[in-house]
Amino acid sequence: MPVTLVVGGQWGDEGKAKIIDYLARDVDVVVRYQGGANAGHTVVVGSEKFAFHQVPSGILYPKVTCVLGGGMVIDPLALVAEIDGIVSRGVDTTGRILVSAQAHLVLPYHVLLDCDSEDRRSDGGIGTTRKGIAPAYADKARREGIRMADLLRTPASLRDLVSDRVRENNRILKARGLKPLSPKKVADSIMAARARLAPLVADTRPVLWDAVAAGRRVLCEGAQGSLLDIDHGTYPYVTSSSCTAGGAATGTGLPPSAFDRIVGIFKAYCTRVGNGPFPTEETGSVGEKLREIGREYGTTTGRPRRCGWFDAVAARTVVKLNGMTDIALTKLDVLDTFPSVKVCNAYRMGKRTVDVFPADARDVEQVTPKYETLPGWKEATAGRRLEDLPRPAIDYIRHLEGLVACPIHLVSLGPERSAMVRIPRGPSTALGA
Ligand code: IMP
Repeated sequence: MPVTLVVGGQWGDEGKAKIIDYLARDVDVVVRYQGGANAGHTVVVGSEKFAFHQVPSGILYPKVTCVLGGGMVIDPLALVAEIDGIVSRGVDTTGRILVSAQAHLVLPYHVLLDCDSEDRRSDGGIGTTRKGIAPAYADKARREGIRMADLLRTPASLRDLVSDRVRENNRILKARGLKPLSPKKVADSIMAARARLAPLVADTRPVLWDAVAAGRRVLCEGAQGSLLDIDHGTYPYVTSSSCTAGGAATGTGLPPSAFDRIVGIFKAYCTRVGNGPFPTEETGSVGEKLREIGREYGTTTGRPRRCGWFDAVAARTVVKLNGMTDIALTKLDVLDTFPSVKVCNAYRMGKRTVDVFPADARDVEQVTPKYETLPGWKEATAGRRLEDLPRPAIDYIRHLEGLVACPIHLVSLGPERSAMVRIPRGPSTALGA
């Protein structure tokens, strides 16, 4: 049975959780493959709002097993708190959460170092979530990380390992003028987390292989977005993991040949939190209107998101990078009141026209977007069926499909589970000529 992968197509916050929640109804396993507590996924069920950070959002379906994959960096204390929060709201997680033995731990010194690096940068910083993500991945690459497998050591051995790492990192903290951490206190907190998390730790690779071989349906959930990918994003204004489709194989242990559907999630406009180039950003009233109507404030940090028009150059590039088979377009309803909508279909760079998102962020800084203006629909679309959508809204969807060369199969028209329109395969027929 093939594996479906859900990938963010922009700078994160595309509304992946809602699409994953929609697709998870029909799956047996949901697995996260990268990132950590920097992610913030919101799902609205009736009058209830659930915010997820490290646990895959499939947890709301009782038959779904949730796997935190080996490509993640996991804050153990935050994970315990998140699981407790989910349980306290009546969700039975017993036997339904597995944590890869290969995933790395985020420790308190990672958080301090992340914050300090941000505060020191003369350019205003990357604008990280301050959750310790980059230092944790740096330790992984330096081969100095602590992995979930280490929670299965004897208590004395784990205590020694954590205390040693704290002492080593205290040297760095002191050199930066920061207060050192108590090795004992950190080790105590990890021992407490160990008691809760060790039973969840497993070699999740055979679990996933066996699930695929047995014909169970597996959904891979990406966090952040393709333009924040450590290699393909606007480096250095990126996160520290591989958010794009390639990361799903390394981050889960599923082979690339297992993935047969790659769903790209795009907002009907663009947003970005943190710093770094954003060609279609609108800093005036249009950006403000998108932010207010779209409630564009971070789930993890509460920061206002930067907003702008849909960037088809970036989207087209991301479709190719990920090999996206289809797209879910989210928050189309946010555009309901705009008299006209703009789409960037090319960049101007000096005298050249560019139709591929540049590989270097300094080039992205230099481009000027070329826009097309399409008529708005000035009607509420939330809760409507496909055949009842206003013509200009359908034209907008069709136009985006053409520009990015990938069919749009789902359109989300509001935060509620029910506010979703499915466009059957063969989109041009479904949407009319
Ligand atoms: P970090 O992942 O905390 O190191 O932050 C690096 C960059 O990625 C910053 O610009 C963050 O704002 C951005 N970022 C990290 N996680 C998310 C997310 O879940 N949504 C949107 N942006 C994110």
